[in-house]
Formats: sequence, C-alpha cells, structure tokens
Amino acid sequence: METFKLPKLHYLPNALEPYISENTINFHYGKHLATYIGNLNKLIEGTPFKNMELENIIRNSEGVLYNNAAQTYNHIFFFNSLCPKGGGKPGGALLEVINSQWGCFDAFKAAFSAAALSLFGSGWVWLSADNSGKLFITQTPNAKCPLDDELTPLLTLDVWEHAYYLDYQNQRGKYIENFWNIVAWKSVEKRYHHIR
Ligand SMILES: [Fe+2]
Repeated sequence: METFKLPKLHYLPNALEPYISENTINFHYGKHLATYIGNLNKLIEGTPFKNMELENIIRNSEGVLYNNAAQTYNHIFFFNSLCPKGGGKPGGALLEVINSQWGCFDAFKAAFSAAALSLFGSGWVWLSADNSGKLFITQTPNAKCPLDDELTPLLTLDVWEHAYYLDYQNQRGKYIENFWNIVAWKSVEKRYHHIR
C-alpha cells in the first residue's frame, strides 16, 4: 500500500508555456518528482516513519530518507508556487513587508534572482518567514529545505539543472527571469497570511 501519492497538478502540463514547457513538466513532475515519491514509499515501508506526516519525516531523518522526503516536499512546494497567468506583484501585508525590508518589489526580485543565479550546483532558493513575519531569502543545497531552520517557506524556485535544461540548456538566468511570469502570488500571500 502506497503512503505518498503524486499530487495533482493545479494546471495542465502545457499551461506554463512558453516559460516552462510541457516536456519539462512531463519529466520534472511526471518522472523526477514521481521517482522521489516512489523512493520515499519504499524507504518508509516497515519502519516507524510509515504513516508519519511528510514534515515530521524530514525533521526526524537523515541521509537517503531525508533526501527523498525533502525532495518530495520541495517539489510539491515548487509546483504549487507556480500558475498560468501568474507573475506581477503580491499585494497586502506581504508587499508591505517586502517594501520595508528591500525598499521596493524590484529590489526584492533582484535579490531573489541573484541568489538563484549564484547558487553553485544543485539546490533551491526560497522566500521564507520566521514566526514574527520577518522575510528571508535563502539558498539550500541539494535536497535541503528551510523547515530545518525553523522558517516557514512561502515561495521556492528549483535551480537543479533538471528543472530548466530541456528548455534553457545552460541558461539558468533566462529560466529565472521567466519564472517571475508564473509565480502564484495569491498562494504565496495566503501562506504569509497564516503566519501573521
Ligand atoms: Fe527538481
């Protein structure tokens, strides 16, 4: 019996075009994420991790189990951070705090993009918040996710090469630039609202 299942995408596989192709979604969501979930299910079978919440598995594991659990979490978070006809700016309290911490939305965007471009090798860039609502842009290497640092993730960008190589080859910068057209700010705002 499988514990974790590939979650449904909230959009069609071709809906993020021309920024992320159907081909990339078919591999990234349909193969990479599916493989992490398959590995996770095999690894927890017959262990105390079976029937644990994904977040608790991440907080209580290491090595190959941590990697597959965290990559499952990170990818689900990533695909939920995107939507067709997204982009623009957030509103409400989130925009106010972005403006007060970075000066303006464009400066925040530049700082997040720079973090995504400068991450060496494979990993993730996150916008997260602490319990007081203070925002942080962080880089995490490989599978590592911000739950380890007691931060609540709000938005993430996958900068593993498998996320962009089919569409952009080595041009990570172009992929990052286009990411801003498909950010699901309404979902990010909602997550932030729950913290404050
Ligand atoms: Fe990925």
